[in-house]
Amino acid sequence: MQEKIIILDFGSQTTQLIGRRVRELGEYCEIVPYNKFPYDDPSVIGVILSGSPFSVYDEKAFTADLSRLRGRLPVLGICYGAQFIAYTSGGTVEPAPSREYGRARLASVEAADPLMAGIEPGAQVWMSHGDTITSIPAGFKTIASTEDVPVAAYRVEGEQTWGVQFHPEVYHSECGTQLLRNFVAGICGGRLDWTADSFIESTVKALREQLGDDKVVLGLSGGVDSSVAAVLLNRAIGKNLTCIFVDHGMLRKDEFKNVLHDYECLGLNVVGVDASEKFFSELSGVTEPEKKRKIIGKGFIDVFDAEAHKIEDVKWLAQGTIYPDCIESLSITGTTIKSHHNVGGLPEKMNLRLCEPLRLLFKDEVRAVGRQLGMPDHLIKRHPFPGPGLAVRILGDITPEKVAVLQEADHIFIQGLRDWGLYDKVWQAGAILLPVQSVGVMGDERTYERAVALRAVTSTDAMTADWAHLPYDFMAQVSNDIINKVRGVNRVCYDISSKPPATIEWE
Ligand code: XMP
Repeated sequence: MQEKIIILDFGSQTTQLIGRRVRELGEYCEIVPYNKFPYDDPSVIGVILSGSPFSVYDEKAFTADLSRLRGRLPVLGICYGAQFIAYTSGGTVEPAPSREYGRARLASVEAADPLMAGIEPGAQVWMSHGDTITSIPAGFKTIASTEDVPVAAYRVEGEQTWGVQFHPEVYHSECGTQLLRNFVAGICGGRLDWTADSFIESTVKALREQLGDDKVVLGLSGGVDSSVAAVLLNRAIGKNLTCIFVDHGMLRKDEFKNVLHDYECLGLNVVGVDASEKFFSELSGVTEPEKKRKIIGKGFIDVFDAEAHKIEDVKWLAQGTIYPDCIESLSITGTTIKSHHNVGGLPEKMNLRLCEPLRLLFKDEVRAVGRQLGMPDHLIKRHPFPGPGLAVRILGDITPEKVAVLQEADHIFIQGLRDWGLYDKVWQAGAILLPVQSVGVMGDERTYERAVALRAVTSTDAMTADWAHLPYDFMAQVSNDIINKVRGVNRVCYDISSKPPATIEWE
């Protein structure tokens, strides 16, 4: 049985990060909403309560019944989680006199406490809370404090329950990994044996059992997730898997040809479908971003459906859904900003059963699995690319001619990043074709041509992102190359907006 840590999600932005950090330690974990604890699951070895956007005394605050957990399993409350345990046990939580955000240093540490093993006074921790615990209930013992936060960490005596008001999951907390390891391995007794290899072995076995001799169809996008899912399934069921790769005409320069070739080299049974004409005609004259997204999403389903029906007796639809997609769809406070197009709408229409072999993995784990499966680095390290492709990077209506212009500019930018060794340093990058023309001069001629914006961001999960601080010399060269080589473009700008408040894609 795969042992696991459960992370109860009270809505914090860093809940996913807790999950990733636990997995990085080599322990399997799952994130579940604050009120959905799997009481009947015997494989749970410990529980972590996340932070929350609410105060404990907020009317809308998320609450959980801890009486069935405390004393039965080891419990670690983080930030709100710690305050919630203290508050519901009779402690006092109040607005902090000065809001406690950012770096702090542990001033005193109870070295003998198992949660604090190996953590020294002076270690940097990351605080982010407006409330603070001002008095702990009887039976609670402070095990760490900072200059401003007397109860930085506590333990409930006679019980396997701890709370920390700082965020060990945030990379700025220097002792965070040690603290989480102390909890997961030291206190919960976790074996730390969750690896890419063990995942592949158990998943291939499970897929063979689940699928038997059934035929499976999978939509490839060129991205990491669907590619890794395909290679994993190929290892499990070989030719019973048919992959469909649809070209909607708005992929990057030569991408369809190159990626199709990569897939064939990996031994995948793949059908490439050029449907660009259909998409261009349906998108003709459409300028509204959500409408573009909907047209492409629907068109993709139609093309995929028609192709899949050519395969006799197909029973399953496989998808490269990964864990953050599942958590986001469970998200307890989230709002839809953009309707993302992927193959999510397919199953209802197609009447197929769904197979999602990566649904438990974080992105970096998907990459590790891909590497372990022998996939080439250029496929594994590819930047994320939106399903609707360049359609959401051409502001205004879409024509084949505009796509061709943007493909050239984008190609120069991306190739430049590779040549300068910058490609792997950014999360994703691309060019955007703006719906403006501006005056320029080339030789003795006045020009009146298009402007291209370049966007490159750093990120760990695309939920937040910062613009990449690329070297000026690199930007100068890319700008020069684009203006000199791409006909119809006479101006290049660089997007210096972070997410939030901007998003990564412009549409
Ligand atoms: P935004 O623009 O929302 O993008 O900050 C976040 C991440 O999602 C990618 N993206 C998409 N991915 N289908 C996808 O599979 C889509 O429709 C889609 N739209 C945006 C975007 O490139 C970034 O990595």
